[in-house]
Amino acid sequence: MVIYLRGDLGAGKTTLVRNILIKLSYVGKVKSPTYTLIEQYEVAGLHLRHFDLYRFRDAEEWESAGFRDEFNGDNICLVEWPEQAAGLLPAADLEIIFTILPDSRVLELQANSDKGKQCLNALSN
Ligand SMILES: Nc1ncnc2c1ncn2[C@@H]1O[C@H](COP(=O)(O)OP(=O)(O)OP(=O)(O)O)[C@@H](O)[C@H]1O
Ligand SMILES: [Mg+2]
Repeated sequence: MVIYLRGDLGAGKTTLVRNILIKLSYVGKVKSPTYTLIEQYEVAGLHLRHFDLYRFRDAEEWESAGFRDEFNGDNICLVEWPEQAAGLLPAADLEIIFTILPDSRVLELQANSDKGKQCLNALSN
């Protein structure tokens, strides 16, 4: 499953991933993958991969760092700054768009596949 997290700096993307992990009973530090570009978590029987591609520049790194292999159908990949790897990243099943308003934050969820739709249905039930 591939989930894009779109929104400005500080919009709350990492905070959402941190709280998803906490809800899945992950105990440990959830660091922003600002410099490592990827953090990996094995939790609740899930293989979760958290990308922050803000600093991603080198298309060759996509292969050499093994990023392509992470999108293997078994992992749940949550991707901040997906636009930085446009053309390399697989399409998203789900996109979460964060907007900061003067005194609140808005999240818009958009399903692009059957898997994504199943997620939205599960959330709304
Ligand atoms: N829903 C929220 N309500 C209040 N504060 C929030 C919320 N989400 C995030 N924040 C705060 O906003 C700040 C930035 O959040 P975060 O690091 O999650 O942003 P980000 O979208 O991942 O940014 P970046 O693009 O730089 O990685 C943090 O201090 C966090 O505590
Ligand atoms: Mg972040």
